[in-house]
Amino acid sequence: MFVSIEGIDGSGKSTLARNLKKKLLELGRPVFLTREPTDRFFITESEQRNRSAENAIELFFRFTTDRLHHQKTINSELDQDRIVISDRYIHSSYAYQGPLMEIIMGGMDSTIEWMTNVSMVIRMMPDLILFLDLEPDSIATRIARRKERSGFEEPGYLKMVRNYYHRMIDRNWIVIDSSLPVEKVTAIALEAILGKLKG
Ligand code: TYD
Repeated sequence: MFVSIEGIDGSGKSTLARNLKKKLLELGRPVFLTREPTDRFFITESEQRNRSAENAIELFFRFTTDRLHHQKTINSELDQDRIVISDRYIHSSYAYQGPLMEIIMGGMDSTIEWMTNVSMVIRMMPDLILFLDLEPDSIATRIARRKERSGFEEPGYLKMVRNYYHRMIDRNWIVIDSSLPVEKVTAIALEAILGKLKG
């Protein structure tokens, strides 16, 4: 089973990924943790801060190419019967690059349509998307204190990112309020995975 974890910066994705791995291993389920962007992805600071539509389109292509390679790894891990958990996957590109493209593409719907067409090269889709939902203002202080900050972390921008996530919520998505205690977030996510495994 292929699970992705999505959410805005600071929503606790990596902690959840680690906790899930631990819990699933305790239950005798082998897990492969992975993430996007992968180690082969390179982005400059100015590209991260650039809010132009042209830059967003270029990044969308580059994140998609990174994912093309990544899906091979995911595939081979799934073949070995491991549960693959990815900290970010395709919906990060939609949520982060989408809002900035609207000026060229038109509204949200036509932007999503364009991104879906470009993403046709991606064959591996998650069976389950764990979305850690968080109000961007509530993490502004936490992010401001971080030493290493990415250009993607401005609250105003993260609000648009969150809107895109909300627009994509579908039946294989589990929305988890990430302001809940970490044990509770882990328990909800674990239950969703185990439920899906049972079919
Ligand atoms: P990441 O290193 O996962 O940051 P964090 O651990 O804080 O979540 O991701 C770096 C940034 O890249 C993050 O702000 C989201 C952004 N991103 C995109 O804009 N598009 C994408 O397709 C992906 C995978 C990430």
